[in-house]
Amino acid sequence: MASARNDHLSLRKEPANNDASHEASRHYKAYDRPRLLAMANQKGGVGKTTTAINLATALAAVGKRVLIVDLDPQGNASTGLGVRRAMIRCSAYDVLFGDASVEEAAATTKVPNLDIVPSSVHLSGAEIELVTAHNREFRMRDALRRPMGYDYVIMDCPPSLNLLTLNALVAADSLIVPLQCEFYALEGLSHLTKTVERVRKSYNPELDIQGVVLTMYDQRNNLTSMVENDVRSFFGDKVYKTVIPRNVRLSEAPSFGLPAIVYDMKCAGARAYIHLASEMIKRERQIAKEARSVA
Ligand SMILES: Nc1ncnc2c1ncn2[C@@H]1O[C@H](COP(=O)(O)OP(=O)(O)OP(=O)(O)O)[C@@H](O)[C@H]1O
Ligand SMILES: [Mg+2]
Repeated sequence: MASARNDHLSLRKEPANNDASHEASRHYKAYDRPRLLAMANQKGGVGKTTTAINLATALAAVGKRVLIVDLDPQGNASTGLGVRRAMIRCSAYDVLFGDASVEEAAATTKVPNLDIVPSSVHLSGAEIELVTAHNREFRMRDALRRPMGYDYVIMDCPPSLNLLTLNALVAADSLIVPLQCEFYALEGLSHLTKTVERVRKSYNPELDIQGVVLTMYDQRNNLTSMVENDVRSFFGDKVYKTVIPRNVRLSEAPSFGLPAIVYDMKCAGARAYIHLASEMIKRERQIAKEARSVA
């Protein structure tokens, strides 16, 4: 408990980053291209992929056209959406190195309106290959920041702040941070906000944290509410009201190659992600409205 408090204190020294009107004027002017979201947290196993898949599915279910870009060499978003490695012709690797366009690399999924640019084994070498590559931080940005047949592109990042994650952060309009309410969560978040600050200064001044999603939430656990209070007091309304409960159906679904929302639409986890998508859309509409009234 004491350690969670210390993390809280160190996190509080970070500059706050919740200027909604600034955000509004940036992202919502003219939308002739998809909204680009990076799903990132360098901490492993916090629910990035589960959130990417199920949030994307919930958005697709309300008619949004969504593309997931699987930037993680582990390829969990790809397998979780039923893409078998043997079937992959073009991947995020080919997009990164300019050998395929997003349209060429995108594969359909069993979910209507939801496509995926899958990961491939080659991505694990991409980190090293990118080091000497020209324009290495801007590869995904160049590939994605243009009109495309999607409303949202969600980039699922690996559990590290490496060049693949950096490519996602440089490309993104906004970052979604899944956060598991546990002992070292705040320490990791502090590291991530510093990285966002650096990316903003050097590569992408528009990058913002769109929202923090509390995952594997267990309301019976005291630490959960302590961490939740700390995160909410630091990030304010950037933290989604919707929390994702710990739910076994969410962890079963990927082995069937299905989003939990398709596997068992009524389970608590699926319902939470549907709720999260609706909260996200409402918030975006509100920000767009504010942006229009400022203009
Ligand atoms: N709300 C939840 N309830 C129960 N299990 C969950 C929940 N969210 C995720 N899981 C399970 O926890 C594990 C980690 O989740 P996930 O793969 O989404 O995290 P990740 O942050 O993408 O991991 P990595 O950093 O390795 O990419 C998976 O086995 C997943 O099925
Ligand atoms: Mg993952």
